[in-house]
Amino acid sequence: MYLKSLHLRQFRNYRDCLINFDAPKTILLGNNAQGKSNLLEAVELLSTLKSHRSARDRELVLETTPIAEIRATLERTYGSVELGLTLRTQGRRTVALNQESLRRQLDFLGILNAVQFSSLDLELVRGAPERRRAWLDSILTQLEPIYAYILQQYNQVLRQRNALLKKIRKQQQEEGVDASVSKEFHAELALWDAQLATAGSRVTRRRGRMLKRLAPS
Ligand SMILES: Nc1ncnc2c1ncn2[C@@H]1O[C@H](COP(=O)(O)OP(=O)(O)OP(=O)(O)O)[C@@H](O)[C@H]1O
Ligand SMILES: [Mg+2]
Repeated sequence: MYLKSLHLRQFRNYRDCLINFDAPKTILLGNNAQGKSNLLEAVELLSTLKSHRSARDRELVLETTPIAEIRATLERTYGSVELGLTLRTQGRRTVALNQESLRRQLDFLGILNAVQFSSLDLELVRGAPERRRAWLDSILTQLEPIYAYILQQYNQVLRQRNALLKKIRKQQQEEGVDASVSKEFHAELALWDAQLATAGSRVTRRRGRMLKRLAPS
């Protein structure tokens, strides 16, 4: 897999820029705030559909414009591939493979594989466990794209269970701590508990397997 070209339109500080990577290695040189990190961020987005710098698409679009486009051509063993990602200040992002729009973002993952190193990687060891999980998640998403879906399901169950817990707490506050939590709440909580356990074990199993692959033998 080989990144041949990158075309950035209205992405971050790029209005319209086509970069061809002709050499086996490329070094980006430039003054501060010229767009070096922005360019790498575009590659990261094509690879993982995530940016470690921003959670909102709005921030990725060139100020005062509504849409950003990142396109890339890759040379793979089975031929060349074109990837396209459209980001909007309002509305959902869309992805395309060989100029055909993909219904599921999942099908976009795992095509452009990238590895990042940074001086901040020390944080992986020193920082919070959440960071290590996020790092593992991003590798898994690239190597086993279905993992993105598994993780999304887990987060959805977690959110819904948390919302229910909040509801229960509110009821207890209103009716006193001794108030027995209504039967329906109990039944609903048991349901979410079971789903959380199922979804959670899928996530931990895959993370565990990945850690084994990474561990020196
Ligand atoms: N949505 C946006 N619209 C327009 N400009 C943006 C947007 N987001 C970021 N920028 C601009 O991009 C520039 C930062 O680019 P980038 O972080 O890639 O710099 P860099 O070349 O990596 O610099 P450094 O050497 O300091 O790391 C800033 O000038 C910032 O204002
Ligand atoms: Mg930078």
